[in-house]
Amino acid sequence: MQHNWIAILDFGSQYTQLIARRTREQQVYSEIIRFDTSAATLRERNPSGIILSGGPNSVFEEGAPLCDPGIFELGIPVLGICYGMQLTAKMLGGVVKPGEHREYGHTSIEGAAGSALFAGIPGDFDVWMSHGDQVATLPPGFTVSARSLSCPHAAMQHETKKFYALQFHPEVVHTQHGDKIIKNFLFKICGCAGDWKLTSWVEETVQKLKDQVGQEHVVLGLSGGVDSSVVAVLLHRAIGDRLHCIFVDNGLARAGEDKQVEEMFREKAGMDVHVARAAERFYTALKGVTDPEQKRKIIGREFINVFAEEARRFKDCKFLGQGTIYPDIIESVSPTKGPSHTIKSHHNVGGLPPDLKFQLVEPLRELFKDEVRAVGRVMGMDNDLLDRQPFPGPGLGVRILGEVNAENVRLLQQADLRVQEEMRKLPNYKQIWQSFAVLLPVKSVGVMGDQRTYENVCALRVVESVDAMTADWSRVPYDTLARISNRIINEVRGINRVVYDISSKPPATIEWE
Ligand code: XMP
Repeated sequence: MQHNWIAILDFGSQYTQLIARRTREQQVYSEIIRFDTSAATLRERNPSGIILSGGPNSVFEEGAPLCDPGIFELGIPVLGICYGMQLTAKMLGGVVKPGEHREYGHTSIEGAAGSALFAGIPGDFDVWMSHGDQVATLPPGFTVSARSLSCPHAAMQHETKKFYALQFHPEVVHTQHGDKIIKNFLFKICGCAGDWKLTSWVEETVQKLKDQVGQEHVVLGLSGGVDSSVVAVLLHRAIGDRLHCIFVDNGLARAGEDKQVEEMFREKAGMDVHVARAAERFYTALKGVTDPEQKRKIIGREFINVFAEEARRFKDCKFLGQGTIYPDIIESVSPTKGPSHTIKSHHNVGGLPPDLKFQLVEPLRELFKDEVRAVGRVMGMDNDLLDRQPFPGPGLGVRILGEVNAENVRLLQQADLRVQEEMRKLPNYKQIWQSFAVLLPVKSVGVMGDQRTYENVCALRVVESVDAMTADWSRVPYDTLARISNRIINEVRGINRVVYDISSKPPATIEWE
């Protein structure tokens, strides 16, 4: 990677991802790298600027994460944010004092006129603070560039060396003019071009994959979801038929989606796709089980077992491809070990048996979900697939309350298919986060013609959300609800009642189990 990118040294802040987002929004490529990346590595990779992120530690703690001091000798502009500012002060000879209490939330600051970082920004503005310690004495050569009532050194800079540091967070939306501050750093201070495009990301990534994999083979768990599908296409571009995809047919997919995966990847794209037909095995393991957690555990365990059995046929493969994306990587910082990355296990093929030793290939590690979709579009992938709603790993298993068996799966698939067909007709379908049917372990009385019926109840769940952390039930037009209900009751034998779920999250969850 040549010049024209920003290295973000990660000290474990919950906002590190946002810093990356903000730079990419300006078409400047950025990469989040370990806080202890050496100055030599950085010199070689030659970024246009370095950002030191915030972090939960205090520079006073024993074992607090430090960067290589050589970073300040590279002649590359540095922006320290929060912990990054305290670190800059401490490492360059200033004094940091422990905070008596944490300052958290909005603060009004007064920026110094003439600072390149604050160019084009009014003198007073509101910022988002979240810190305990603060800089008491500036390091030699630095001047104060912003102050607030409680924090006389809210920002500092060394104009000639191009070192800048902020006690507040420019990357969060609560900081007024935060985007302008970041733009000033990227363009005025680092001289970035702002010409990063996903097309070039794709080309570079394909080349990197070629370099990483060499002449070896890669095995990949293909789920039919957006992330693993995009990884499959990227890897296929890079290494062609040395990619071997494994699709575990667990019998818990939405109607027809298992067939679609085969059709799309094997028939259309010509990839080597192995389907492990394991539906019966999952149903057998789930027989008589009604406890939600138990069901999830069984589905997870069977998945690993089936995947491992298939993967064993590819033991000569050196690599395992994974669709890990940036939000799957949780920053967990321990004061003794420093920042580290752990992966949310349910998103990935975690816990493979010890005889299967693959090296991981995770080309989407640094991307956000919308960027993954954009990469898919750049590569000409099907919009239907790229715009798929989130689907839980345990699939319909958590949407069938009570026992999961072949008959219940068939019933739910048929009901769910009608929900999907009708929901897709809505002009605002793309704003809907998830829409699906849930099969309840309840029977109710109905009447059809002259016949009394005693059949299953199905619930509709349609929610709007931005991140699945909170969600509200969608105000779906009555006409759509009526069509869904009519179609399910008339066309799906075995369901005679449909109810609409009007619970928000929290306190309810999106899925019913
Ligand atoms: P809840 O039900 O917790 O769901 O409100 C939040 C979001 O996560 C999805 N979900 C899962 N995704 N594996 C996944 O990959 C899982 O085990 C899982 N459980 C829930 C859910 O569909 C919703 O989008």
